[in-house]
Amino acid sequence: MFKLVSLALTLVALASAQDSTTSWQTGATQGPTPSTPPPTPGGSNVDRECGGDLTNLWLDVVVVVDNSKGMTNEGITEIAANIVTVFGNGTRIGNQYSDPRSTRLGLVTYNGRSTIVADLNLLQSIDDLYQSVFSTLNQVSNSDDSFLAKGIGAAENVLQSGRTNGVRSNYKRLVVVYASAYKGEGELDPIPVADRLKSSGVVVSTVAFDQDGDEALLAGLTNIASPNYAFTSKDLNLVGELQGAALQTNCFCPNLWTQYKSNFDDENSYKYGVCIRPATISSSWTAAKFACQNLAKNGFLAAEYDGQKHNFLFRVAQNNTAFQAPYIYHIGLSYVNGGWNWQQPAGYPLKPMSGYSKWNPSYPKSFTSNIGVVEQQFSSDLTVGWQNINAYSVAEYYMCEVASCDTDKYC
Ligand SMILES: *[C@@H]1O[C@H](CO)[C@@H](O)[C@H](O)[C@H]1NC(C)=O
Ligand SMILES: *[C@@H]1O[C@H](CO)[C@@H](O)[C@H](O)[C@H]1NC(C)=O
Repeated sequence: MFKLVSLALTLVALASAQDSTTSWQTGATQGPTPSTPPPTPGGSNVDRECGGDLTNLWLDVVVVVDNSKGMTNEGITEIAANIVTVFGNGTRIGNQYSDPRSTRLGLVTYNGRSTIVADLNLLQSIDDLYQSVFSTLNQVSNSDDSFLAKGIGAAENVLQSGRTNGVRSNYKRLVVVYASAYKGEGELDPIPVADRLKSSGVVVSTVAFDQDGDEALLAGLTNIASPNYAFTSKDLNLVGELQGAALQTNCFCPNLWTQYKSNFDDENSYKYGVCIRPATISSSWTAAKFACQNLAKNGFLAAEYDGQKHNFLFRVAQNNTAFQAPYIYHIGLSYVNGGWNWQQPAGYPLKPMSGYSKWNPSYPKSFTSNIGVVEQQFSSDLTVGWQNINAYSVAEYYMCEVASCDTDKYC
């Protein structure tokens, strides 16, 4: 292990020492700070972020590496160092751990044809990963052909056969492609297979091995990658970008729950570690509070810490046909212990309301018994605001919230 690690570190160091002379950077000098797209302005960012602990990453990953001549020996060696740096810092490789949060990693190379170096079950430790990556990616093949379709096609096979009999069907899947060329028409067109993967929920990230700013390569790979996940070897923080892609892929909501994003209408906007579910059975505020706690472990009546979250919940209601104007639903705000407080998972202290508020005109009213808060459409213009109501007698729909599945939470 130490031998391999120091070999890798030497290679990483070598690669960074050469940063000034080559276009390729492993990003190791920048440190592997996972980078995710910044939240859209408007959110004060107090909602839970997706888990960011690479030690607890739980994914099925296939890494696809172009080893045609165009990649060059130097380039492929740097890719090897990049791969082990991204997935080799504490991530449990394989599936033989008592903690289910582990990452299986398959490896495919391609040129005119593809080779499956490791299926999803071969690599069972970080040592295996180093061994396999550095013994395979030490020199390019003698082929000039670089057919991306072959590489991604093999990745699809690896993912399929690694899942027989429903093995790890709850794990998200990520394909990372390192390519030096974009070619292919007809049978060699990589788009159909990439589209098939993405529409079945696989996230695809690409790294263009970009020697001289080949724009056709970049443009081509952008069509292959999932939105925001087309990177280049020139990116200063490539390690962080790939780790960020892995962490965001690992962050998702169970069925029937909608993931909180910076923009409801943009599926690819920044994802928070928060899941929302509208409950369309009328209940009192107090009943809704307990119902959310029972709907999911650690569930609670949803919080609105800022305008971005407020708007998101409203869009969730608007997009649900069970709701009709005027829109009204309970949220997790109530008057307790002498102040307005937000619900939290059962057992956690309530969070005092601070900063943001969205009371309708003339609210809050005297709150002797009116201690629960609904979101209510106040006027004919399509906005909603807060109104305090009797927490035992006013029955409305409600919004529940729970933490997402991610590196902090296996589900
Ligand atoms: C590995 O992870 C630790 C803790 O998460 C971090 O402090 C360290 O810089 C990382 N090292 C490398 C080489 O990625
Ligand atoms: C809006 O509702 C439709 C129909 O239920 C659903 O398919 C779609 O995913 C929803 N949109 C969002 C952004 O959740």
